[in-house]
Amino acid sequence: MKILAIETSCDETGVCLLSVNRKYPDTEVTIQANELASQVEDHQEYGGVFPSLAKRLHAENLPVLLEKILKESETESVAELPEEKRKLIRGWLKRHDGLADKIISLAETHGLPRLDAVAVTVGPGLEPALWVGINVARSLALLLDINIIPTNHMEGHLVSGLAPDDITNGETHTLKSITFPAIALLVSGGHTELIEIKDWQSYKKIGQTRDDAAGEAFDKVGRLLGLPYPAGPHVSELASQAKRDEGGRIKDKDFSLPRPMIDSNNLDFSFSGLKTAAARLIADNQPLTDPQRALFAHELQEAIVDVLVSKTAQASVQTGAETLLVGGGVSANETLRNQLSALDLDVYISPRPLAGDNAVMIGLAASGHYKDGVDPTNDISADSRLSL
Ligand code: KG4
Ligand code: ZN
Repeated sequence: MKILAIETSCDETGVCLLSVNRKYPDTEVTIQANELASQVEDHQEYGGVFPSLAKRLHAENLPVLLEKILKESETESVAELPEEKRKLIRGWLKRHDGLADKIISLAETHGLPRLDAVAVTVGPGLEPALWVGINVARSLALLLDINIIPTNHMEGHLVSGLAPDDITNGETHTLKSITFPAIALLVSGGHTELIEIKDWQSYKKIGQTRDDAAGEAFDKVGRLLGLPYPAGPHVSELASQAKRDEGGRIKDKDFSLPRPMIDSNNLDFSFSGLKTAAARLIADNQPLTDPQRALFAHELQEAIVDVLVSKTAQASVQTGAETLLVGGGVSANETLRNQLSALDLDVYISPRPLAGDNAVMIGLAASGHYKDGVDPTNDISADSRLSL
């Protein structure tokens, strides 16, 4: 089964062409072409993602990425487009100047690959951003007379833990097979969730953040330390510069941050108190020297990771799960990866290139939902708060 997957839920535009031999487990997957355009720099001056700019940039990026994919792939010419279909596509893409004509002309110029379905993220995410991907996906599915698979972004982060670390374009890989029950820790800029997985496509949310997500805590406190958006990777880099003694320990614990809800008797998280405590500590110690900033970043990372690891361990006890999947942008964090890997569980963490938002994970998630494909003329809506 050949799927074209599109991801536009936040600030990364992703398009991927992949083929999958069957449903999990033991799925064999080949990424035939994969493109990603990051908008991170465009949003930096706003200190976060600016939804209407994200929408405009997705509309600019999608035809560019699509053209790259079409040039790299085997395509077939598309049949003469009836006026009725042209009208539908123009209607779906009417909010984006010239986008409908660009998509139609790409298909007419390069042809399209022979596909079985187009997969697209329908949520959760920024609604205006999601709509761009949905309407482009719809247009492509209509051009090919195939179904569209509405896909959950969080399921994408979850299944990316099954991908092998050496996943490479053009090579066939077998996805890792796991035993159930399993749990998943999903940690991104907008979400911090623990999921119980009884079987494929059978998910139950057993813990979530009551306020800020873990990535948001990294980003907001990192910003107070003067780091650019998204601050998570910069906090991690700064933390690695914290001064250590000869035994490898952090020398001087100038700063101490809370581990919110670490001892609470449930699997929920809360990071807004950590942000407030961090802001106060930074304000009380102005100006921070460079070594102090590094120590602060280290303590922030430790505080967030301690809570994530402790709740994950608690979730495995509560569910009896011996398998852990980990995904989402924050799962790129080295300290988190190391500490989760040390748990007495079978741990499957997203390969780093698939940890952040991308279209490969959407294709992988969609391959388990082939039966849920719908005609592109159906009502397909963005759902910014879609849950697993
Ligand atoms: O999954 P993702 O790419 O987008 C969302 O769906 O939100 O996650 C982005 C988040 C940002 O908050 C970013 O700061 C964080 O992932 N992040 C990290 C690291 N790399 C990305 N946080 C901590 N350490 C990292 N190395
Ligand atoms: Zn994400």
